[in-house]
Amino acid sequence: MSAAEEKLIPVSPWVQMARKLGARYATESLAGPQPSALELFECTEDGQREIVAQVRAYCRTMPDRVKAGQSVVFFGPVGTGKDHLMAHMLHTFYRYRGRATWLNAEDLWSRLRDAIGEDLSEKTIDDELTRCEVLALSDPVPAAGGLSPHQARSLFRILDRRYRDLRPTWVTMNTNSSVEAAKAIGAAVVDRLKDNALTLWCNWESHRQAAHSATPERSRHRVKDPS
Ligand SMILES: Nc1ncnc2c1ncn2[C@@H]1O[C@H](COP(=O)(O)OP(=O)(O)OP(=O)(O)O)[C@@H](O)[C@H]1O
Ligand SMILES: [Mg+2]
Repeated sequence: MSAAEEKLIPVSPWVQMARKLGARYATESLAGPQPSALELFECTEDGQREIVAQVRAYCRTMPDRVKAGQSVVFFGPVGTGKDHLMAHMLHTFYRYRGRATWLNAEDLWSRLRDAIGEDLSEKTIDDELTRCEVLALSDPVPAAGGLSPHQARSLFRILDRRYRDLRPTWVTMNTNSSVEAAKAIGAAVVDRLKDNALTLWCNWESHRQAAHSATPERSRHRVKDPS
């Protein structure tokens, strides 16, 4: 390492994570005065307040819940703030000095593709994703079409290993029920994810729609009961 490099202030693990998540989601510094993502989360209806209360409860006892392998599944229509809330949980975990791996499902699929192309072992990817304390996975339910058999098998392999090892996975899914989720990413995956998990049904209008609508029709994007 050069003398100049030695003078560099090390980038904190949270800053590295925040860069991956993107400025839209990682609003907080570890110590700074910025409002937390949870404080920025506007609650205009009881359903949102209830979910925020459950996120807060998980955060309060996060180390114990993580140790016990309690997963978190955010599901519901698009734009309802699932990834926003998960980013807050990640920040909280870092404040507890935990370390997580976060990735978007699309990044996972491209890493798996690269592993084949570059003749790398998928084991390297599996090891990283199965051994991390918390795996946070955004949007494994494809916006259109289903998973390829290879993607489905890889997802199962990773989540099954984590499930066996009592390692929690936090996931956000744009889906309206577990039946729909099971069709999209596999029943065995969804069953493991939901076992003893905190499942958070985010069923309100997209914030993107609400932000652009002067008179939002709050029930427009609602769907019926989850199963
Ligand atoms: N209640 C809210 N208050 C403030 N901002 C919100 C709220 N809900 C969502 N947002 C913002 O809206 C945008 C979309 O939210 P987010 O990406 O978390 O939604 P999502 O449920 O993960 O859906 P999708 O997968 O379609 O993005 C983000 O910029 C997020 O910060
Ligand atoms: Mg999302």
